[in-house]
Amino acid sequence: MTQDELKQAVARAALDYVVDGEIIGVGTGSTANFFIDELGKIKHRIKGAVASSEATAARLRSHGITVFDLNEVDAMPVYVDGADEITPQGAMIKGGGAALTREKIVASVAQKFVCIADGSKLVNVLGNFPLPVEVIPMARAVVARKLAALGGEPRLRLKDGQPLLTDNGNLIIDLHGMQIERPAELEAVINNIVGVVTVGLFAQHGANVCLLGTTDGVQTLS
Ligand code: 5RP
Repeated sequence: MTQDELKQAVARAALDYVVDGEIIGVGTGSTANFFIDELGKIKHRIKGAVASSEATAARLRSHGITVFDLNEVDAMPVYVDGADEITPQGAMIKGGGAALTREKIVASVAQKFVCIADGSKLVNVLGNFPLPVEVIPMARAVVARKLAALGGEPRLRLKDGQPLLTDNGNLIIDLHGMQIERPAELEAVINNIVGVVTVGLFAQHGANVCLLGTTDGVQTLS
């Protein structure tokens, strides 16, 4: 099976977690895109969705799914999203698609985080994937110095040779070379740096369920 077929398989499996008549939170990225395409097939069963990025909102709308502003939504049973890395305990690195802030906000409103990922994303220790940190532009240099002091190598994320801007108008610093043994602790430390908007560690509130695509089928970790 190709990686895309594995992503498609977990996207399909995630439909089992969709709650009829409710609003669902939807993540960002290639695996989330497969999920949106599956969701489009059962859109009559849901009230609508809250999107974690402009790209996700556009794809949901292209399927005729109503997109709600999070401010109109008090609660939602489920949030479905991919991950860049996930541990067997459900701690994740996210933000490879630069949507980490809205992902964390939408996920915080949902009762259950269902992570969908191909098997290559499962790791015992997070950090091989550079850790994304969304930063207020004027704080770029000071935050980079403080991140370097944690032992990693901070690099400003570029797109087409220019600093990438998130949907929120901020920058992303990717922290390379970290071996993250205690992700919840590091999440708290980086959250505490002035100028940081969001760190792409989802450990204090990790995934409740992970649907992992393997050549032996979809495995459920919970
Ligand atoms: C976007 C994310 C994605 O969930 C993460 O990058 C995984 O993406 P993909 O499904 O394309 O591998 O956090 O900000």
